[in-house]
Amino acid sequence: MDSAYAPPAKVSTVKKIAIINGPNLNKLGEREPSVYGQDTLEGINEWLALESSTLEVELSFFQSNVEGEIVTALHQFDSSDGIVLNAGGYTHYSIAIRDAISAISAPVVEVHLSNVYAREDFRHISAIAPVCKGSISGFGKNSYLLAIRSLT
Ligand code: DQA
Repeated sequence: MDSAYAPPAKVSTVKKIAIINGPNLNKLGEREPSVYGQDTLEGINEWLALESSTLEVELSFFQSNVEGEIVTALHQFDSSDGIVLNAGGYTHYSIAIRDAISAISAPVVEVHLSNVYAREDFRHISAIAPVCKGSISGFGKNSYLLAIRSLT
């Protein structure tokens, strides 16, 4: 046996995960607190960073109220290991966001703070669910954490 044994180089297992939030989610904290809770988006993102500090993940955060910017962000985060997407109201009708998810290879998990199936009928339809890896709805900020865990 070769006496000059060198241990194998450590392969990084840290997963890069992007958290993308769509329209009106920048208004969390002041927007319909009875539905979406009192946390701001910044507060949720800080909480996610803290809660996932024991997981081997590197989180990136992006929010936009503009459909095309969300499409571009999905393209740009294709190099990550997974994407957590709360597309807000676009969830229910955006073919452009659905097509962007289909166009990339990174797995996308659809999330919602509220239980969209317990709300108005128009929220029961998701244009993006069929092209997502899975969907998590109704657990408040924990919906995001569950999605991150599902991608690790
Ligand atoms: C939401 C649910 C959507 O129906 C709504 O348009 C939102 C937020 C949620 O997180 O519960 O903007 O995605």
